[in-house]
Amino acid sequence: MIEVSNLGKVFPDGTRALSGVNVSVPDGDFIAVIGLSGAGKSTFLRCLNRLVDPSEGSITVGSKDVARLRGRQLQHYRRTVGFIFQQFNLVQRLSVLDNVLSGRLGYHPTWRGLLALYTEADKELAMSAIREVGLSGKEDARVDQLSGGQQQRVAIARAMAQEPQLILADEPMASLDPRLSDVILGILRSYNETKGVTVLVNIHVLDLAKRYAKRVLAFNKGKLVFDGPVSSLDDDLETRIYAGSLEAL
Ligand SMILES: Nc1ncnc2c1ncn2[C@@H]1O[C@H](COP(=O)(O)OP(=O)(O)O)[C@@H](O)[C@H]1O
Ligand SMILES: [Mg+2]
Repeated sequence: MIEVSNLGKVFPDGTRALSGVNVSVPDGDFIAVIGLSGAGKSTFLRCLNRLVDPSEGSITVGSKDVARLRGRQLQHYRRTVGFIFQQFNLVQRLSVLDNVLSGRLGYHPTWRGLLALYTEADKELAMSAIREVGLSGKEDARVDQLSGGQQQRVAIARAMAQEPQLILADEPMASLDPRLSDVILGILRSYNETKGVTVLVNIHVLDLAKRYAKRVLAFNKGKLVFDGPVSSLDDDLETRIYAGSLEAL
């Protein structure tokens, strides 16, 4: 369960990216986060795993007060949250397997990580994640030899290898050929359905959000302006979401 209450973010240069955001997410939800560029979608996701420190409000995940975690506790929290970036964020000259194994790093002391001393159990998890994203046989390929779509699948496998309680994906198909959107979102949805892991995905293509998510959160100028089932979206509501004519929730 995620409880976000009165979340706000002001960046050091004075830009206000989020204000007064209240959301509660039960375990196992699959949520699309929509809104125009600059609406605050990335900042919202980044606050949830503390890539960005919130300025106001609180975020509770399970029993953890995420906004206040420090040091080792923050590291322990982060290893349970898989984050998928638009630009994949892989180590290009390493193999698929090594990139996926790095999802296990948070579970080991730093020195083991530096020496790449992974356990057999780590390797099994990594291999099964690679299978799950359809890349069996590519374990030893260097990431820089793969297509963009394959690289994003490696990034998803790395997140799965973390055995996350939560997956956050920030426009994971935005830098890919549109035809690959269904592959990426299909993998995330089937992971959500089979493992019951909560998924929040920023999607700027509304049609995709509607096809994959059960629930939609819409941001406009840093405010949450819609939170409800996909089925309640219609043309009028969609126009108002993007036009910014809805009141903040
Ligand atoms: N590091 C930053 N420093 C200052 N302003 C930022 C920073 N990151 C994002 N912003 C601003 O915060 C607002 C929300 O950005 P963002 O969360 O990236 O929106 P979205 O993902 O919906 O496009 C925008 O005005 C953006 O320019
Ligand atoms: Mg963004």
